[in-house]
Parts: sequence; C-alpha cells; structure tokens
Amino acid sequence: MIAGAGQAGGRAAEALRARGFQGAITVLGEEAHPPYERPQLSKAMLHSPDASVTYIKQARDWSDVLNVRLETGAAVIDGDADRRTVTTADGRCFIFDRLLIATGTRPRKLAALEGSGIEIQYLRNVEDALRFRRSVQHRSRIVIVGGGVIGLEAACAAARNGCRVTVIENETRLLARAFPPLVSDLVAAKHRSHGVAFVFGATVTGATLAGVQLSNGETIEADLVLVGIGVEPVPTVAERLGLPSQGGIAVDACGRTEASDVFCAGDAALQWSRCHGRAIRVETWANAQNQAISVATNMIGETKAYNDPPWFWTDQYDLNIQVAGDMLDSDHIVRGDERSGKFSVIAMRGSDVVGALSVNVAKEMAMLRRVIAANARPSRADLESPAYDLRAALK
Ligand code: APR
Repeated sequence: MIAGAGQAGGRAAEALRARGFQGAITVLGEEAHPPYERPQLSKAMLHSPDASVTYIKQARDWSDVLNVRLETGAAVIDGDADRRTVTTADGRCFIFDRLLIATGTRPRKLAALEGSGIEIQYLRNVEDALRFRRSVQHRSRIVIVGGGVIGLEAACAAARNGCRVTVIENETRLLARAFPPLVSDLVAAKHRSHGVAFVFGATVTGATLAGVQLSNGETIEADLVLVGIGVEPVPTVAERLGLPSQGGIAVDACGRTEASDVFCAGDAALQWSRCHGRAIRVETWANAQNQAISVATNMIGETKAYNDPPWFWTDQYDLNIQVAGDMLDSDHIVRGDERSGKFSVIAMRGSDVVGALSVNVAKEMAMLRRVIAANARPSRADLESPAYDLRAALK
C-alpha cells in the first residue's frame, strides 16, 4: 500500500514491480492526476504557454502495464496500526501488509493574507501552475512573498512576461537556506537586470484589494500575491499510526519508521544526512525519486541503505544553479572565475567536502556530487587549483 501518488509514490510502485514483486499494489493519491513531475511546474510550464504536464506514466499504464491499482482523488486521512488499515477522505478503508507513506509536503500558508480580499496564489500542483501561468499573461503587478526557489522561479517567469514584480524576503538575502552570500547576490543582480525589485528583511503583514502592507511600513500596489515561503509535511496518517511528527516522519537509512511494516520516503521523511550532520527533510525531486526506489526494495525484503547527498537545481534566466549537500556553516572554496558567470563553490568542514554549488557548470557538479557521495577527501590546495581534475579525488 502506498499513501501518496507524487514522485515518491509513483517511483516506489514502479520499483516494486521492477524488482519482481507480484503482490497487490495500491497507490492512493489526493490529487486528480496520476503521478507527475513537479520541477517543471515552476519552470517550463510557466514559460511556455503550451508546455504540458509530464506524467511519470500515462494513467492507463499503471493498471494495464504495471498492474497497479491507482486511486486518484483519494486523500488518506486516517490509519490504524493494529488493524493495518488506512482510510481515505471519502470513507473507504484499505488493508495493508506493508505501507509506504509518501504524502509529501504542502505550501506553508501566510496567515496575514487570509481574508484580505486580494488574490493569493501558491505554487505546488498542476492547477496552481496553470493558474499562475494565466496570471502572468494578464496581471501587471505581482508581489511574491519568499525569495526561495519557488518565489524566484515564479519571479523569473513573471518578469519575462512583462509583469511588474516585487519579491519580499524576510531574510537579508535570497535563498539563504541553501546558497552562500556570493551566489545570493549574483541571483539578485540577475533578477534586477530583468526589472524585479526586492525588499529584504521584511514580510507581508496585511493586504487590501489594492496591494500589500509590509512589516517595514511600506505598501506595495499589487493585483496578485504569490506566496512561496516554504513547505510543511502534509498532516496525514503518520500521527494516527503512532508516528508523531518531529518536523517530519523519522526514518532509518532503510526508510523504516518506528511502526512495524510502515515506511516513509520523499519530502515528508526525516532522514540522517552526513553532509548536514543531523536528520533533515529533503525536499527535492531527486530525493523523492531515489529514496523512494531504495525504500521500495526494502519493503520487499532487501536491506539497502539510502545515503545519496541531497541535490537540487534551479533555472532562472540564463542561470542553471545546482546545489549538493550542505553549503551552510562551512568554509568555501571558489573554483573558476565568478566574473565569468561559470564557477563552482565547494563547502568544507574540516577535511570533509560537505557541499557544492555550481553556476552554469553542470559537468563539474556531476563530479562534485560523486566526490561528496564517496566521502572523498581531496586537499583544499587541490580543490583551489583550477587545473586539478576532480576525477583524481575519486581514485
Ligand atoms: N515573509 C517573507 N519571506 C519568508 C517568510 C515570510 N513570512 N517566511 C519564509 N520566507 C522566505 C524564506 O526566508 C526563504 O527564502 O521564503 C523563502 C522560502 O524558500 P524555500 O524554503 O526554498 O521554499 P519555497 O521556495 O517555497 O520552495 C518550497 O519547493 O522547489 C521546491 O522542494 C523545493 O523545498 C522547495 C519547495
């Protein structure tokens, strides 16, 4: 039984069949769609008026090719660990032998805007992406709350469509959770060159039909507010199964929760990260896919630890930026010339490489991900040298 039909739920179901599992597989998903790819919702789908949704598989193939029972529009809201059941919002009860919780996350709401009358949007699912795409084609003044990945990819699409865009970020710089200041500044400069304005160190405290009020006393006229202030786990069966949230659902390296025969993968799973030195939730496409595949094989008897370092990418204008591991609380080595617009930043803690970020050097990132995953320890002097071939670190 798989609760959640996103990237993690879909890939887990596929992996079970790929590994030869012949028993019944049921996937219960809240959305009306079969599992689809989310990264493009804030990228290609906002830029191209005819970009369509990329499904992991066509709806019919789940049943006809994989013999998977996919129930869409079936939000799992309750469960019973002793009876081994989960219940959907429409009152149906399903029995499981093994359960994978893959219910993911949902956008954090900005309470200050509720009921203010102004149009508020979030960007998480297909409908959100289609709505925002329509808006950027028609709206002229857009306030975006949150200078993270979602807010900035949305800003990029809106600016390119000729909208007047202001981003409100309560930290003093963009993407502070994942980027070093050098790269936050570069991204801000790129946006400014496309006409996007920023207000830092402030948030939205209220709104009227005409615009928003900020905590610094400013008001900004707007037709629409897009909120991208992070995500939180979907409150779901976990608690009902005796797994209270610890900021996520705690799992071991095999994806096992503390409840017997209950596993968890994807955005909701709280898993140990060597790079971070603590348990974290990893909210990335790559994790939803690869952790789920790994955990699925553990559901049918293997014991395979999942240790991939977190990795994500963002596309904004002509910038492709990728981040692996953890860039915070570390020493940084810059490889390449920042002024050339193509460089990488390597994060070290002691002699450990714990993170890397690349700007328009995807090939180098592919190597850096391998270096981090292998826990290789090239010297700082080597890493600082542009002539140093990263392949040597893997030998
Ligand atoms: N007002 C203004 N800014 C805020 C507020 C607030 N009340 N609360 C948070 N922020 C800022 C944060 O400082 C951060 O820069 O919003 C930004 C949120 O960025 P992320 O945490 O990256 O979240 P988001 O951009 O919403 O993306 C959510 O979607 O792309 C996926 O998986 C990816 O984790 C990412 C998720």
